[in-house]
Amino acid sequence: MGAAAFATLPCSLLSSCNLSSKASDAPTSPARTTSPARQFSAEMPFPKGFFWGSATASYQIEGAWQEDGKSESIWDRFAHTAGKIKNNDSGDVACDSYHRWRDDIALLRAMNLNSYRFSVSWPRLQPIGSGPANPKGADYYSRLVDALLEARIRPMLTLYHWDLPQALEDRGGWPNRDTAARFADYVEQVAHALGDRVSDWILFNEPSAFTDLGYFEGFHAPGRKSLLDFLRATHVVNLAQGAGFHALKASRPAARVGTALSMSPCEPATNSEADKLAAERAHAITNLWFLEPALRGRYPEPFTFLPETAMRIKSGDMESVRAPLDFIGINFYYRTIASAPGALERLSNTEEWLFPVKMTEGTQGPKTQIGWEVWPQALYDIVMRITRDYNRPVIEITESGCAYNDGPDPTGAIHDTRRVEYYRQHLAALARAINDGADVRGYHAWSLMDNFEWAEGFSQRFGLTYVDFKTQQRTIKDSGHWYAKVAAENSLVWDRVSGPVRRP
Ligand code: FCB
Repeated sequence: MGAAAFATLPCSLLSSCNLSSKASDAPTSPARTTSPARQFSAEMPFPKGFFWGSATASYQIEGAWQEDGKSESIWDRFAHTAGKIKNNDSGDVACDSYHRWRDDIALLRAMNLNSYRFSVSWPRLQPIGSGPANPKGADYYSRLVDALLEARIRPMLTLYHWDLPQALEDRGGWPNRDTAARFADYVEQVAHALGDRVSDWILFNEPSAFTDLGYFEGFHAPGRKSLLDFLRATHVVNLAQGAGFHALKASRPAARVGTALSMSPCEPATNSEADKLAAERAHAITNLWFLEPALRGRYPEPFTFLPETAMRIKSGDMESVRAPLDFIGINFYYRTIASAPGALERLSNTEEWLFPVKMTEGTQGPKTQIGWEVWPQALYDIVMRITRDYNRPVIEITESGCAYNDGPDPTGAIHDTRRVEYYRQHLAALARAINDGADVRGYHAWSLMDNFEWAEGFSQRFGLTYVDFKTQQRTIKDSGHWYAKVAAENSLVWDRVSGPVRRP
């Protein structure tokens, strides 16, 4: 399994930005047409009560890395290790949201959003990964939640968005089985502190990304590079998902609990049977490795055999991993192309022998700043596949977005037209999926504002809001203003000549 083998975040795939604005996906089946006067225009309404949101994560925005009793996380340690992050950036201050959260809520309000997906920092809430909650940490999130509710914005709380307490990594991290029990204990603490006001919960953010990049490829914290650690970590996270789910439901039976999976539709490179099988294997590892255990108590079959012993699967575990999720969160960024390696390659490489698949990104669409292909049809494809294969589950798009580094013009405005185009096309693809039967309840743009992009530091701007990291001034970009209109109208108005337009 080479780099990006698990089609998680190809942070290593940074390549130059392709500025071609070729539209790769035009909507073909608009839900209904509107204004007869405007030729070729269509309105794509979203279901009543649809959640228009944006997402952030604690380490990427909060800063205050050692304030008010917060302890060190694996990301603090990793970012403070020279050479790990581009330009040696760190999240020490990031967007300073620990102090400026009121400004963040003002942004959400200005964008007419009714859902905010944020994460709780485990080492802020329970500093060493065991023992009582840190009251000041709990207060911070409590104030945030109260202010969101007051602004009529749904808090969608992610319990784990990659910042493990360093104390737990020192005891073995995610490959250590005990971390699953620690996680369940932490979940209980958060449920106790905030569960009277938070109804929508996400257990994990992109478990395939943090286990792969953190334990196998080493580009992310804690920076380990071991196939065994990776495989074990995935099993422990599955155990934690089961344990966390039940801990949360025991404490707050009415909670709606899901998990946010990085999903990427896997297309065969050719029509050959071998490539089609490779694409199914790619789908199993990329999209199902943390879903099948939760929903069906089993692992999917990406490998030539299940390395049960290496993964340290014990009897009874496949019951413990079950978590009948109330919704499936999909983080979507790009598609994956899969092909089968030749027989010789398989024999000469242990990883390809276990996982005989080559995975690459698509190359037909334009690329964003970070080098990811823009291919909106892929959002439609993955939503429809999950809809078909899991009996029309409730889906939330928990992340979707793009990096473009447009900055302020002389008047201070940020004309990020490529991001507007990106959202327009992806929302059109999503509207089609809903029209074709998918039960999608919300969409969360990644991200509310530019922030610390993991190993890329501050070099990649994903925000609807521009952040000047020197002054912490926040300025809503054109894309944020555009998104605000879509949210207010609960509808994407599409005009084939000029793109989305305002309702007359
Ligand atoms: C996702 C992560 C999120 C952000 C985006 C760009 O994989 O969940 O934190 O970094 O990528």
